[in-house]
Amino acid sequence: MWPTTFPAARLMLWGLWIAAPFASTFLAPDLSTSQLTQMFQDFMRQFNKTYLSQEEMQYRFKVFVQNLEVSRRLQAEELGTAQYGVTCFSDLTESEFAMMFGIPQPSQLGLPPSLRDSDNSRLGKLTKSCDWRKAGVIPAVKYQGKKCRSCWAFAAVSNIEALWNIHRHVPRNLSVQEVLDCTYNKIGCLGGYVWDGLRTVFNSSGLSSSRLYPYTGRNQTCQKHQKRTVTQIDGYELLPRDENYIARILASQGPVTALLNQARLQNYQKGIIQSPSQSCNPMRLDHAALIVGYDEVKSRRGSWVGPYWIIQNSWGERWGEKGYFRLHRGTNTCGIAMFAATAIVRDSGGKKPVLCRP
Ligand SMILES: *[C@@H]1O[C@H](CO)[C@@H](O)[C@H](O)[C@H]1NC(C)=O
Ligand SMILES: *[C@@H]1O[C@H](CO)[C@@H](O)[C@H](O)[C@H]1NC(C)=O
Ligand SMILES: *[C@@H]1O[C@H](CO)[C@@H](O)[C@H](O)[C@H]1NC(C)=O
Ligand SMILES: *[C@@H]1O[C@H](CO)[C@@H](O)[C@H](O)[C@H]1NC(C)=O
Repeated sequence: MWPTTFPAARLMLWGLWIAAPFASTFLAPDLSTSQLTQMFQDFMRQFNKTYLSQEEMQYRFKVFVQNLEVSRRLQAEELGTAQYGVTCFSDLTESEFAMMFGIPQPSQLGLPPSLRDSDNSRLGKLTKSCDWRKAGVIPAVKYQGKKCRSCWAFAAVSNIEALWNIHRHVPRNLSVQEVLDCTYNKIGCLGGYVWDGLRTVFNSSGLSSSRLYPYTGRNQTCQKHQKRTVTQIDGYELLPRDENYIARILASQGPVTALLNQARLQNYQKGIIQSPSQSCNPMRLDHAALIVGYDEVKSRRGSWVGPYWIIQNSWGERWGEKGYFRLHRGTNTCGIAMFAATAIVRDSGGKKPVLCRP
C-alpha cells in the first residue's frame, strides 16, 4: 500500500520534475528549481506538513512559489524593517488565507458603538515605551485554528484576561467559545467585532472559564454560563483615532484591541512593518489583534528609526515573532488606529494596579 499522505522526504523523488514547469513563469530569477524544491522540503519539515495526494502536493508547491514572489514584492515595498518570506501559511493562496482568517469589514455586520466623550481620568502620560509582557500580565499566545474566523473573540478575551491581571491581580483563562457562541449565535466563525463581543460580556454579566466552556472552533448555540464562575468587566469603549491617545490608554490601563488590514501578515516573518497606505489600505480592515505595548528604535546611523506597536496575534507561536508582530506607530499603518477598543476593568480591593515599566 502507498501511504495516503506525502511527507517531505517523498518530495525528493519527484521534486525536480514538478518544479520545472513553474521555473520560467513565476520564479525569482536568482532561485534555481532545485533550490526551490529544497526550500519547499524544508518548509514541509519545519511546519510538519503532509498532503493527501501527489496532485495536492504539486499544487501546494506552486502556491508556495507564488508566495515567494509575493514576499519579494512586499519586501521591495517595505519601508520599515519587516522581513517577508516562508511562513507557516506559505502553502495557502491569498484567497484561502482570507477565507480562513479574514473577518468582514466593520460596516458589513453592523457599526461600532459611537464614540463617547473620552474619559480623561483613565489617561496616563505618554511614556517612551511600555511592554506589558515584561510585567507578566499577558496571556500566552493562542491559536485560533484554520476553520473559524475567531480572531475578534480571541482579541476580546485576551484583552479581558490581561486587564484582570493588571487591575484585579487575578489570572484567568476565559472562554473564547462563549464569546463566539453568545455574540453571534451559531455563526460566530463567520467573523465579528471585538466591541460586539465586549458588549455581550458586559451585558450578560461576565464570561466563564475556558476550562468550563472550551474552544471548539465551531459555530455553536450559546450555552450561557450555567452555574459557572464568571469574570465581569465594568464596561468597554472605542478609542479615538489617535495613536498617542491609544498609547496613553495602553500605558495606564493595559492592552487594547485593534482592527487592521492583514494583507502583509501571511508572509510576515519578523521586524517592524511600515508600508505606504496604497499597499496596505487603512480602510480595509479584516483582522483583529491585541496591542500589548509600544517602543521606538532610536537613532542609529544608517538604519531604520521610529516608533512601533507590539501586537499579539492568535495564530500560534510558530507564526511571526513567537506569535507577535510589530507595526510602525504614528501613521495609521494598515489602519491600526481606526477601531481600537478595550474592555474597562476597574481596580478593586484597594490594591494598586500593576504598572507598565518601560
Ligand atoms: C505531524 O503531523 C502528523 C500528521 O498530521 C501528526 O500525527 C504528528 O503528531 C505531527 N507531529 C508534530 C511534531 O506536530
Ligand atoms: C491558564 O492556562 C495556562 C496554560 O494552559 C496554565 O499554565 C495556567 O495555569 C492557567 N491559569 C489559570 C488561572 O487557570
Ligand atoms: C459557521 O456558520 C457560517 C454561517 O452559516 C458558515 O458560513 C461557516 O462555514 C460556519 N463555520 C463553521 C466552522 O462551522
Ligand atoms: C442585554 O441583555 C438583556 C437581557 O439580559 C437583553 O434583553 C438585551 O437585548 C441585551 N442587549 C444587548 C445589546 O445585547
